[in-house]
Amino acid sequence: MDFLRRLTGVRKIDSRDDLGFPRPPGGVMVRTHMDAEVIESVLPEKPLLNVEGVEYPHLATGKVRELFDLGDRLLMVATDRISAFDVILPQGIPGKGILLTQISLHWFRLTGGILANHLLPDQDRLIQDLGLPPELRHRGMVVRKLKPLPVEAVVRGYLAGSGWQAYKEGGEITGHPLPEGLREADELPQPLFPPPTKATAGHDQPISEEECAALIGVELFSLVRDTSLRLYEYGRKRSRLAGMILADTKFEFGLDEGGNLFLIDEMLTPDSSRFWPAEEYQPGRTQPSYDKQFVRDFLLRSGWDRTPPAPDLPADVIAGTRERYLQALRNLA
Ligand SMILES: Nc1ncnc2c1ncn2[C@@H]1O[C@H](COP(=O)(O)OP(=O)(O)OP(=O)(O)O)[C@@H](O)[C@H]1O
Ligand SMILES: [Mg+2]
Repeated sequence: MDFLRRLTGVRKIDSRDDLGFPRPPGGVMVRTHMDAEVIESVLPEKPLLNVEGVEYPHLATGKVRELFDLGDRLLMVATDRISAFDVILPQGIPGKGILLTQISLHWFRLTGGILANHLLPDQDRLIQDLGLPPELRHRGMVVRKLKPLPVEAVVRGYLAGSGWQAYKEGGEITGHPLPEGLREADELPQPLFPPPTKATAGHDQPISEEECAALIGVELFSLVRDTSLRLYEYGRKRSRLAGMILADTKFEFGLDEGGNLFLIDEMLTPDSSRFWPAEEYQPGRTQPSYDKQFVRDFLLRSGWDRTPPAPDLPADVIAGTRERYLQALRNLA
């Protein structure tokens, strides 16, 4: 330690990071750096839609991820599948799964001091030891096996998407009244936590805070809400330093056998969040964005009625989406 102090000139290692949030366990020694060039160099030309060559028992298929059973742990592999309006689209976005995994790893490593997450330590070695085929190596995450909560935690800091729709129609967002005269993409007076349930099949149904508290208990509900708001605040500050506005996001949580709360799934990715280039921010219109909005806009223009099958994605929509996700990673790195 003395050696480290002499080397860095640091007398006492601060338990808070540059944004004033608690550092993750391991403190300043935790590797949080993401090398955008290296990640870009491993992105494939063709999308990986299905996972083959994993020798562990397959446990479940999500819209985007495949889960494998490692005994007391899980292997989560992110494919290049993309869903919009809860429907998996016929084409994938080449390399998207790699970008999602790497962006999630980045945030999980940064925010472990705010709330523990499902990522197991020494991730690089854990992945290496599995001996996965090369095309899966950068898509995998070895995580704790937890029990997902039946609710998804959405936080909205700005008026966009279905929040903007709800405000236009009723002046509020799931029970949160808002001031009159807000424009599309305006910043909300304070970030909101309007919880939807996570449907196991079909669409996620919006529910009120009271219903959500009834589903998971008042105490756990308060913890999920307060933690989600803090994690959003962290993500928003860090994203702003990276030149982006984090307009909204969705978190998922799980419990271990002792009832301890963990953040699970993915974190602050362009699949789960809206990222807007801060320099081009201009309320009163739809914002340019580094996320799924580009795909949603195409689908809306196409006149598709949101029932499967979805229309084919043109090559420029696929390439444009990939570029947007990649740009989000480049900004954050
Ligand atoms: N640590 C964990 N323990 C147990 N289950 C987990 C863990 N992390 C994630 N999961 C679950 O794994 C699945 C991941 O798949 P995927 O991200 O494709 O999810 P999805 O819910 O189908 O889609 P979407 O994220 O678009 O709602 C989800 O059902 C998620 O709840
Ligand atoms: Mg998910």
